[in-house]
Amino acid sequence: MSPSPEVKNPPELEFGNAWEYAAAPESVKVDIADKYGMFINGAFVAPMSRKYMDTINPGNEEVLSKIAVANEDDVERAVAAAKAAFPKWKRLKASERAKYLFRIARRLQERAREFSVLETLDGGKPIKESRDVDIPEAVKHFFYHAGWADKLDYAFPGRKGRPLGVCAQIIPWNFPLLMAAWKIAPALACGNTVVLKPAETTSLTALRLAEIFVEVGLPPGVVNIITGAGDTGAALVAHKDVQKVAFTGSTAVGKAIAQECAGSGKRLTLELGGKSPNIIFEDASLDQAVDGIVQGIFFNQGHVCCAGSRLFVQEGVMQEVLAKLEVRMQSLRVGDPMDKNTDLGAINSLGQLATIKRYLEVGEAEGAQRHQPSVKLPKRGYYLPPTWFTGVQPSHTIAREEIFGPVLSVMSFRTPEEAIARANNTPYGLAAGIWTDKGSKIFDIASRLKAGVVWCNTYNRFDAASPFGGYKQSGFGREGGRQGLLSYLELV
Ligand code: NAI
Ligand code: MG
Repeated sequence: MSPSPEVKNPPELEFGNAWEYAAAPESVKVDIADKYGMFINGAFVAPMSRKYMDTINPGNEEVLSKIAVANEDDVERAVAAAKAAFPKWKRLKASERAKYLFRIARRLQERAREFSVLETLDGGKPIKESRDVDIPEAVKHFFYHAGWADKLDYAFPGRKGRPLGVCAQIIPWNFPLLMAAWKIAPALACGNTVVLKPAETTSLTALRLAEIFVEVGLPPGVVNIITGAGDTGAALVAHKDVQKVAFTGSTAVGKAIAQECAGSGKRLTLELGGKSPNIIFEDASLDQAVDGIVQGIFFNQGHVCCAGSRLFVQEGVMQEVLAKLEVRMQSLRVGDPMDKNTDLGAINSLGQLATIKRYLEVGEAEGAQRHQPSVKLPKRGYYLPPTWFTGVQPSHTIAREEIFGPVLSVMSFRTPEEAIARANNTPYGLAAGIWTDKGSKIFDIASRLKAGVVWCNTYNRFDAASPFGGYKQSGFGREGGRQGLLSYLELV
């Protein structure tokens, strides 16, 4: 595979600003190769498996490219490259490691528009989200961790942080480039080397990030990217020379990985699913709350581990909230992800679409009422109207299981005690939202919710400096912030 020709950014982007561009849909053409090998030891190589799989655009079902399917031999090659690169990378002056991360951040920022388009084509998310969230946040993670690389002694005063070695990093399809950044940036800052496996439906931006590694002269083997599905991921996790496994994805696969790593001495962090509560109190600013709720569940088609998928509304304002919600839902635009006005793009895959549709059926079968605005969906591609259910009981499947789609379950509560009990009544513990005008209530409720992140009068806000991660079946370990560094260091 040859690196793709460059796309020129508009001039304002050269300074890293957000940009406005007028007409929809997005018109920038991004060259995509017919076929992509894997990135091992600083170069793109064909898979020893000789196998490839299609990656498609879920917005119109067209095949975008062919992606290598790595087998055990390919995994072996990638891990060997990361292992060989480790001693030198570890010994490199920390300020030099920082320079590589700064360069990656800068280059990604310069190529942001191209990455945004590619992310939307390969994964189906609205272009305005790739443009305003995914790519800028990925850039921030590289900048943020570049800053830590030579200051680790200050992060943990009195302790010395030693890198762990080869890190196997397996990421999902909902935030492809952003998850790659969340994983790669802290690992490198701490002096580790990496083998990353993107998700099978969304490998293109990670592979393009590898082009940036070449551009900035990152030493060969420091980051290797192998593509493939679950078998490839399992082979990577099981490799004896892997010292650390970092996984984001489903709870089922997380459990399998935890079993594989048990007793092996491998360090493990897991970021798994969620069923996060969003709680509206009677004293909340209701317009603001409804906006936040819509954003909290329909952002990225609900393919968000911390999506606010359970809405708890205090009884006295239930009717008002439902009325406002209904109006707001009518204004959501569903369709072509490349259209800059689109609010909900395509569901990531046919499989995920089928999963979500099953939940819609189960929801109705168990007695909840389904509501959807009347929207015209494109003829080709995987689409679903945004959906909310009323009449949901806490025992209903749609109130308990992660749907990972644009589906909101609305429930009520009377007292703050009841809100807390219901919110915490889940095997998950990733995130939560509170909407109230009373500051004291925020502090009280936030401290009693068992969730890794609690947002107050806002939702889905991220910051590289703020640790992210879960409790219970949402996993363990933190990403981002000072705490996130602990996942990639051994303190001595
Ligand atoms: P998944 O957990 O199977 O996939 C995530 C990643 O793990 C992918 O890169 C995949 O290739 C890899 N993988 C799969 N099996 C593996 C194994 N045995 N060993 C190592 N790696 C493996 O998720 P999937 O099937 O795409 O989605 C199913 C459900 O999982 C979704 O409906 C959603 O509920 C949840 N999910 C949660 C995510 C989160 O961010 N918390 C992300 C993706 C999915
Ligand atoms: Mg795809």
